[in-house]
Amino acid sequence: MKMAVLLGSPRKKGNSETLARAVAGPIEQGGGTVEYIRLNDRNLRPCQGCGGCDKSGDCIIKDDMAEIYSVVDAADRLLLVSPVYFYGLSAQCKIFGDRMQAKWARKYLLKERYRLGEGRKGYLLSSAATKGKRIFECSILTARYIFDAMDVEYGGEFVVKGVDKRKAVLEYPGELQGAEEFGKDILAGRI
Ligand SMILES: Cc1cc2nc3c(=O)[nH]c(=O)nc-3n(C[C@H](O)[C@H](O)[C@H](O)COP(=O)(O)O)c2cc1C
Repeated sequence: MKMAVLLGSPRKKGNSETLARAVAGPIEQGGGTVEYIRLNDRNLRPCQGCGGCDKSGDCIIKDDMAEIYSVVDAADRLLLVSPVYFYGLSAQCKIFGDRMQAKWARKYLLKERYRLGEGRKGYLLSSAATKGKRIFECSILTARYIFDAMDVEYGGEFVVKGVDKRKAVLEYPGELQGAEEFGKDILAGRI
């Protein structure tokens, strides 16, 4: 199993990253490989809506997405990791998602399917400060649509509410254990 973890928080070792590492633990221990990409450290321009990918399926912007496209293409499991920012994904994750317009063009305009039938799956991991009932709804919908464009089946989400300070999640061992269980479920093919 080859997992790409897209860290979307600008906070290093914050809540979402801590949870992501807990998810990835069992996969690494089970012999899988995990590659982390810290989106905030990369030079990524937002999608320009130029239509440059419509005919080729390739984005024409020359920046660090080139490497990210190849890591993502090679992975069979993707974990999109985002804090909730104003009820949605962080800007870093949104830029990543919008740049998947090139994949959307491949699938829906060029009718090219990518690694179809190989069981590739994508998951969302998110954390939020508040505990609102609908706090993750927008992020989940957006993540589902991003994975659809990538021709990756949505495998579900692991979300934690009520964590705000950078290491707040460490005070909730049950959530960290839940993240680990989520990783075990991914590894075992249950999700
Ligand atoms: C710009 C910004 C916007 C935020 N918006 C929300 C929000 O709408 N709802 C919420 O519950 N928490 C919100 N938060 C809090 C974060 O989601 C929360 O602290 C999260 O656990 C941070 O994860 P991290 O440590 O991985 O960065 C916001 C934080 C920032 C900095």
